[in-house]
Amino acid sequence: MDDLRSELADLVRAVHAYVAWHGEGGTVGFPREAVRPQTTPRHETAHAAPPPMPAPAAQAPEFSPFAAPSAAPPNPFNEPDPVPRVTKPRIPVPKPPPPGEPRDRHVHLPRIEAEVSNCTKCRLHETRTNTVFFRGNPNAQLVFVGEGPGADEDASGKPFVGRAGQLLDKMIGAMGLVPESDVYICNIVKCRPPDNRRPEPDEVAACIPYLHEQLDLVSPKVIVALGNTALAALLGTAMPITKVRGTWKLYRGTTMLMPTYHPSFLLRPTSNPVESKRQAWEDLQSVMKELGLEVPQKR
Ligand code: URA
Repeated sequence: MDDLRSELADLVRAVHAYVAWHGEGGTVGFPREAVRPQTTPRHETAHAAPPPMPAPAAQAPEFSPFAAPSAAPPNPFNEPDPVPRVTKPRIPVPKPPPPGEPRDRHVHLPRIEAEVSNCTKCRLHETRTNTVFFRGNPNAQLVFVGEGPGADEDASGKPFVGRAGQLLDKMIGAMGLVPESDVYICNIVKCRPPDNRRPEPDEVAACIPYLHEQLDLVSPKVIVALGNTALAALLGTAMPITKVRGTWKLYRGTTMLMPTYHPSFLLRPTSNPVESKRQAWEDLQSVMKELGLEVPQKR
């Protein structure tokens, strides 16, 4: 029942995000239903297509996809709702697969998640509340990779559930997609770095094999690397995101990877948010084209 409620809440948030992003971005026309990639669907679980999206009533003068939806209750500090703190039980680690067995993502992703929940490979395990493995659909063709959990994610055990996560959901909603059913969301490191500092290189090195295996199993068509840490860890480049964003790269020589700004960066007033958000939306439009999704027209 709780799962159903939370799924319903996610759907409502995604519809809000869809309308908010497009309305505030000045879009005059956008798909009246979410368009799925043209390639062979890999979804093994049936997910209903999101309901038709209503056209925005008014056009906002400035591209500002991040403002709170107007129906939201007054919230002068723009703080997200507090995330309830739950400590997930450690998952017993299943036996490793016999060699040569076909790698079914529904078997092996839970196995890696169990390993992660017991992981003590680096110092981050000492201060975590929960490990944070993923949210979304393991059958998705599109994966978003962030840096690492913050306080809200550590408290809930799910990635991108705080303020940056709300923005990420808006961005995904603007693509006509529903976060929980159409994409897979994860991070470079699975435990929260204290004080929200960047993960250290040895922490990334200890954790990255989990992500490589995770991505190998999800096997998406496109990966979006959010920010410098994801870009550096996935491609081994020291190039800053400001230089590389918007240009297609290859992850491990096989998977299309689009680097773009991290939602936390887009929320920073110092980042020239209007221009950065416009660029991020450009990057997401390239991703939509690559996936065969209908790109909304802009004014
Ligand atoms: N920032 C990230 O990079 N990942 C999260 O899960 C949350 C915030």
